Amino acid sequence: MAEQRISIHGQWTNRTVFILAATGSAVGLGNIWKFPYITGENGGGTFVLVYLLCIALIGIPIMMAEIMLGRRGKQSPINTMLTLARGEGRNPGWVWLGWMGVLAGFLILSYYSVIAGWAMSYVFRISGGMFLGVTADGANRIFTDLVTDPERLLAWHTIFMVITMMVVARGVKQGLEKAVTYLMPALFALLIVIVIYAMTTGYFMEGLRFLFTPGTIDGKGILIAMGHAFFTLSLGMGAIMVYGSYLSDEHSITQASMLIALADTVVALLAGMAIFPIVFAYGLEPGAGPGLIFRTLPIAFGHMPGGTMVGVLFFTLLVFAAWTSAISLIEPAVAYLVENKGLSRIYASVWIGAFTWFVGLGTVLSFNLWKDKTLTIPYVFEDLTFFDTLDYLTANIMLPLGGLFIALFAGWVMRKESTSEEIDTHPIIFKIWRFLVRFITPVAVIVVFLKAVGAI
Ligand code: PFF
Repeated sequence: MAEQRISIHGQWTNRTVFILAATGSAVGLGNIWKFPYITGENGGGTFVLVYLLCIALIGIPIMMAEIMLGRRGKQSPINTMLTLARGEGRNPGWVWLGWMGVLAGFLILSYYSVIAGWAMSYVFRISGGMFLGVTADGANRIFTDLVTDPERLLAWHTIFMVITMMVVARGVKQGLEKAVTYLMPALFALLIVIVIYAMTTGYFMEGLRFLFTPGTIDGKGILIAMGHAFFTLSLGMGAIMVYGSYLSDEHSITQASMLIALADTVVALLAGMAIFPIVFAYGLEPGAGPGLIFRTLPIAFGHMPGGTMVGVLFFTLLVFAAWTSAISLIEPAVAYLVENKGLSRIYASVWIGAFTWFVGLGTVLSFNLWKDKTLTIPYVFEDLTFFDTLDYLTANIMLPLGGLFIALFAGWVMRKESTSEEIDTHPIIFKIWRFLVRFITPVAVIVVFLKAVGAI
């Protein structure tokens, strides 16, 4: 039946566009802002290793499952889950999985936009020459001045949300195709320039050692590494599913998933290789938290030849990378409103944008006025600010939970014939995939959850 369904939202022009769009969703602040700082906070090597394992054993199979579900359902994740559960003669209650994804998307975008706002403000700071010859202390001060000023954060958060909504309103294709075709490769090239600078600091090996030498890790660290594998690949909430719904039937899902995961991982590792040598060269703290890239990279831009231009370009491209991810964070909700409430894309985007913007105020305040207001949930987390709580709840709990159920749905609820129709690769690859989503992925997610709360 799936062959006759078509998406009312249109289709990607070809496979390359799908891969670019999904890579645009995957590559974002998660790779360049989040990966380095959580790696720094969790001690480096072992954390990176667990993250890489999670990408391979959990991320890639779930990505294949999500694309497969989306392409078969051809609707927003909410309606896709409903249609597929019914089509398989199963309980339509699976629809909640779509709803949880929509909620996770809102919550993530609410803080994602605030951090993207920091990156936007850095474009202007760097272009004004604020970092020329800057010291580590100076760079720290500039960052602290920014985040302790709620009005400035609010202004940038608002600008980012408005621009994102404008792109979403125009439809995924027009907004996205150009951005990802030219800007992603440019970001990649600039990261390499910064890595080359990092090689000249004399601390490159130290950076590599930090990233790749195994050390110790606790249950929480493992959960954060796994959560990040979901976050960075945009999995567990329907973003990749909704992009899959715009993919035509003849393309190979396996190849596309591997390419996307590879590109995403390379960008994250490059970001790590750019940042940690600078951290060590200037005596900074790897565990400096969410401000890490904003405290370190500007020092490099302040000292390398042509640094102002490289810095302006870098942060501009980072903002673009954040946009292409932000769009995918609310596409599931927009597609749903268009399908079920008959709203135009423009109205749907405005409503969702306004709501997300409002929730984002909490993150704006959590770096200043609400800095000391923290939440503790016994066994789950301690002393987290509003921002930290949202981040923890979405990346480490909602996305893995979403991914777990997506794997169970693809592996156990759907009939083997239905999935093999979509994952139309070599029989051995299909067998491996099915084994992973049926057994390895669900067990791994559950074990990591249990370990994080100290139950095993
Ligand atoms: N993958 C994006 C990043 O690494 O920045 C963030 C993200 C986008 C997460 C879309 C989840 C999502 F559905």
